[in-house]
Amino acid sequence: GEREGGRPFKQRLLVVANRLPVSAIRKGEDSWSLEISAGGLVSALLVLYKGVKALEARWIGWAGVNVPDEIGQKALTKALAEKRCIPVFLDEEIVHQYYNGYCNNILWPLFHYLGLPQEDRLATTRSFQSQFEAYQKANQMFADVVNKHYEEGDVVWCHDYHLMFLPQCLKNYNRKMKVGWFLHTPFPSSEIHRTLPSRSELLHAVLEADLVGACTRILGLEGTPEGVENQGKLTRVAAFPIGIDSERFIRALDLPQVKGHIKELQERFKGRKVMLGVDRLDMIKGIPQKILAFEKFLEENPDWRDKVVLLQIAVPTRTDVPEYQKLTSQVHEIVGRINGRFGTLTTVPIHHLDRSLDFHALCALYAVTDVALVTSLRDGMNLVSYEFVACQDKKKGVLILSEFAGAAQSLGAGAILVNPWNITEVAAAIAKALNMQSEEREKRHKHNFKHVTTHTAQEWAETFVSELNDTVVEAQLRTKQ
Ligand code: F6P
Repeated sequence: GEREGGRPFKQRLLVVANRLPVSAIRKGEDSWSLEISAGGLVSALLVLYKGVKALEARWIGWAGVNVPDEIGQKALTKALAEKRCIPVFLDEEIVHQYYNGYCNNILWPLFHYLGLPQEDRLATTRSFQSQFEAYQKANQMFADVVNKHYEEGDVVWCHDYHLMFLPQCLKNYNRKMKVGWFLHTPFPSSEIHRTLPSRSELLHAVLEADLVGACTRILGLEGTPEGVENQGKLTRVAAFPIGIDSERFIRALDLPQVKGHIKELQERFKGRKVMLGVDRLDMIKGIPQKILAFEKFLEENPDWRDKVVLLQIAVPTRTDVPEYQKLTSQVHEIVGRINGRFGTLTTVPIHHLDRSLDFHALCALYAVTDVALVTSLRDGMNLVSYEFVACQDKKKGVLILSEFAGAAQSLGAGAILVNPWNITEVAAAIAKALNMQSEEREKRHKHNFKHVTTHTAQEWAETFVSELNDTVVEAQLRTKQ
């Protein structure tokens, strides 16, 4: 179709996620700088900037900072508008209760089968109700912003465990609004989910959406090929495996600055094999387990000690949550001990960085790596494994991958799959990967590369939005009846 003025019709897509693809850093009273946010969700959704088929996307979410003053809010809103982003302003107390508390201290560990934080189970139980209320309040704040920007015909795509109430809030505003919800984390088994005091409210709220990216056995709802029936309303439920914008990585490898980085890294680590971990510093990523397995490998293979290096990029995340602070010290302690044990006057076996790398440095690092280590204890998909594969068409390095990452389903045949809890097994996998002959590496890489370049973020976004478009909203059903 065509819009007035002859421009081709583009359907407007409102993407709503807790975190915007860019995070804001304050430079002055009314000046801001923006940098790309970390995480799998952003990695997948950045593709919408390129334009996915006939979609015109706008983003609604939190810019990661507290902006209490009007001048700052106005200036930030303006800066974000250039990136097609619309901010939701959350004050410190809401961030504390909703983001640090309910989202990342309760839902996140629970959805990854880690249970509640060990030491403060009782404290968490006590603060549960107020955090849950803050969660609902925050979801309502997101809904208010969506509602303000919604135009008839838009589709609204809500993301992740932060926004499980959003579909319900939106439908309360307007039953005709097309609403999809996609979960980027694993959905826990019903035995885990049912421990959550607010288990039913959350699921009923999510099932208000027209299309949902998982959830059957829970609440004993009847799952059919068409979806899940919830209080007389049918919600479509389906799995949509996520991917990356593989082209973006492949093209980056040809840029002069990336080639420059590659050369530097090759010189720096000449004569040594490079092993790489890239993770947000999160307990689900199994970083201590990975490092302990590397230690075991060094212990058992003295000949390798001066011939291999592990580079661990640990991107700081959720740093106000005590559990994450504990993890940081724990990892530092283990790395220090191992470097003390196996280091020499001139080299250390582990380079551990508490920071993120810019996109070009990251691509270079992926490209020079011999063995990538992904040891998540649970992970929705794990797009780092995809990014690594996309950058390895020359080198054909080996991917060691946790069987508990979603990616084990798609890259399992090309990777060496491991149980990250089994340090002996991971140490053996490291030895196998480092000794693997080029023929086998090529065969394995080929399988993974094909998958990563065909099951892309573009395809994922298009499929989800087109299925969402095909759902019939309840209001229309009613008029037909
Ligand atoms: O699903 C993973 C996720 O929660 C995403 O929403 C987000 O991209 C990523 O982790 C980063 O986490 P945070 O936004 O808390 O820094």
